[in-house]
Amino acid sequence: MPATSPLSSAARSIGASVTLQLNAAAARMRAEGEPVIHLGGGEPESLAPATALTAGIDLLKTGEVRYTPASGTPGMKDAVVAYTEQFYGRSIERTNVMVSAGVKQALMVALMALVDPGDEVVFPVPYWVSYPEMARIAGAVPVPVALEEGAHQPTVAAMEAALTDRTRAVILNSPSNPSGLILDKEFLTGVITMCQARGITVLMDDIYHRLVFGGKITTHCYECTEKSVDEAGILVLNGVSKQYAMTGFRIGWAVGPATLIKAMSNIQSHLSGGPCTISQASAVAALSGDQNSVEDLRDELEERRNETADLLESIPGVELNHPDGTFYCFADFSAFDADSTRLSNLLLEKVQVVTVPGIEFGMEGYLRVSFCGSMKDVREGVRRMRWLLNDNGSAELKAGDRVFAR
Ligand SMILES: Cc1ncc(COP(=O)(O)O)c(C=O)c1O
Repeated sequence: MPATSPLSSAARSIGASVTLQLNAAAARMRAEGEPVIHLGGGEPESLAPATALTAGIDLLKTGEVRYTPASGTPGMKDAVVAYTEQFYGRSIERTNVMVSAGVKQALMVALMALVDPGDEVVFPVPYWVSYPEMARIAGAVPVPVALEEGAHQPTVAAMEAALTDRTRAVILNSPSNPSGLILDKEFLTGVITMCQARGITVLMDDIYHRLVFGGKITTHCYECTEKSVDEAGILVLNGVSKQYAMTGFRIGWAVGPATLIKAMSNIQSHLSGGPCTISQASAVAALSGDQNSVEDLRDELEERRNETADLLESIPGVELNHPDGTFYCFADFSAFDADSTRLSNLLLEKVQVVTVPGIEFGMEGYLRVSFCGSMKDVREGVRRMRWLLNDNGSAELKAGDRVFAR
């Protein structure tokens, strides 16, 4: 009997990344001469550290650009071992490390190593857009856990209620994309302890852990358990994309139990082989070189966070919990439209401002506004939003006109 579709059910259930689609839409509109303001981005505008650039160029000049071991070069693993010692206070071995093409790939490979078809992957709302889709690609069922009415932190009780016999992994992200929320120690300890008791692996997406503001400190997972890295049932994911502004290098890593890392490395060996040789050399240089650029980026982002939050709060009707980290403000716009996709489309169409609808992160009524691009754009973008939503915009909207002509 002929199949009804040549595509797998996983392929049919997956949409393109909305944030990447918005990037493409903004680029297209700009190329057509539209005065687009892009507040939907997810990468710092600063340059990668000079040492990282030089290390890549130096390697290229030798011509010795060949396959590396599937789980990463020994040098890159050693850099991650040192990083883990410095930021997590744990001594690990190379066998506890897998290097990947970004945290995206490390997470995907981890899920492929952990789930069977029909298993469940649990994460709190609002979540990073790719978690549900990654779970689906791996054949699992994504289980988002909604926040309690009026709450900003998820609760251990709500997470526990979502766990079943089919739960294989819980994904936590602190500080969070999109909300900038830092998960507190009580919550982390509660979830980790609960998952350890049930044999569920906790995937800690720490990609923003050094980009935190106001002197706040992120609790890391190993402060919440006495168990060793091999016993704790935790996989920590991190990378160079955000903290070193090295998004295009595509280097991330996973640190966890050697048995899981081995299984993941086997999968990666067939999926893509080792990550880019040149990028690994650059990442080693970034991790082991002068760390001033991370501190400079953090300082810069903190100033931007303060100004962006003030600007958004100057729009009557907008509610915001100031983010404690990352480079996003996740603001409640439900006073204007409970349908975040419609509101985001309206902003794009009428005032050419790109925002990401909250529903993509599992929360209706919200918009994610990035402050990693230029502050000139943030100021102009929020000015247009305020104009459209509060000031004179509504009359023009009724007329159906474009507000900002080419
Ligand atoms: C929470 C979170 N995890 C992972 C990633 C992916 O990072 P990478 O560039 O290392 O694949 C992102 C990128 O936006 C992110 O926001």
